[in-house]
Amino acid sequence: MTARRSKLAVTMIHARYNRTARILLWSMAVLVILQLVLGVAADKASKPLAGQLLNQHVRIGLLILALIVLRSVWRATHAPPPLPASVPPWQRLAASGAHRLIYLLLFVLPISGYVLWGWIGRPLDWFGLFDIPILFEGGDDETWRSIAGYSQVYAAYLLMALLVTHIAAALWHEFVGRDHLISKRMLQRRSTARSSR
Ligand code: HEM
Repeated sequence: MTARRSKLAVTMIHARYNRTARILLWSMAVLVILQLVLGVAADKASKPLAGQLLNQHVRIGLLILALIVLRSVWRATHAPPPLPASVPPWQRLAASGAHRLIYLLLFVLPISGYVLWGWIGRPLDWFGLFDIPILFEGGDDETWRSIAGYSQVYAAYLLMALLVTHIAAALWHEFVGRDHLISKRMLQRRSTARSSR
């Protein structure tokens, strides 16, 4: 193999997230969208449906917290595949800033939601497997309830805005820029090379 071809092979090998990373990313994407819908629906619905939706919201929220911890460990031990040279610096900066903010929000939301749950405090199991412990008992002081409540609402709307921008950018790369950045990195496209991360 010539030096140029072997360099190309190395670049291509790292072009895509591996199966574990892709499963983790896509399952989180689906769960987060479902979670946002459930949160808004629980807020708008009337009893007893509101309570049932909120129960599912709490269960899925804790699952997302577990997945984001797992994803953070994965990310700390596996570098992401590099972006192609065609991506301009401002887009790299914007993408990295958006990713960091999404990570942060995916910690803020379940944690603030869990604190808020302390005031609601009804016994709840986690998909029938165990009882969700209530570590923060909501007392008479409503300060933390307000902080957690505002965090939940504003972080959720910020996350929605980021996700919409993210999806728009992905579609732009796919159909206007036509570099197929997302499908090459995040889907099983046979035209691209093997993955390693
Ligand atoms: C990534 C995870 C989460 C997301 C994206 C999320 C999103 C949301 C959204 C969009 C709302 C409705 C806000 C509104 O319009 O009023 C909400 C409300 C709520 N969430 Fe979450 N949430 C998450 C995790 C959690 C967790 C883990 C819990 C509890 C353990 C929780 C408990 C609540 C509660 C109690 C409310 C009702 C707030 C109220 O109306 O006072 N959330 N959440």
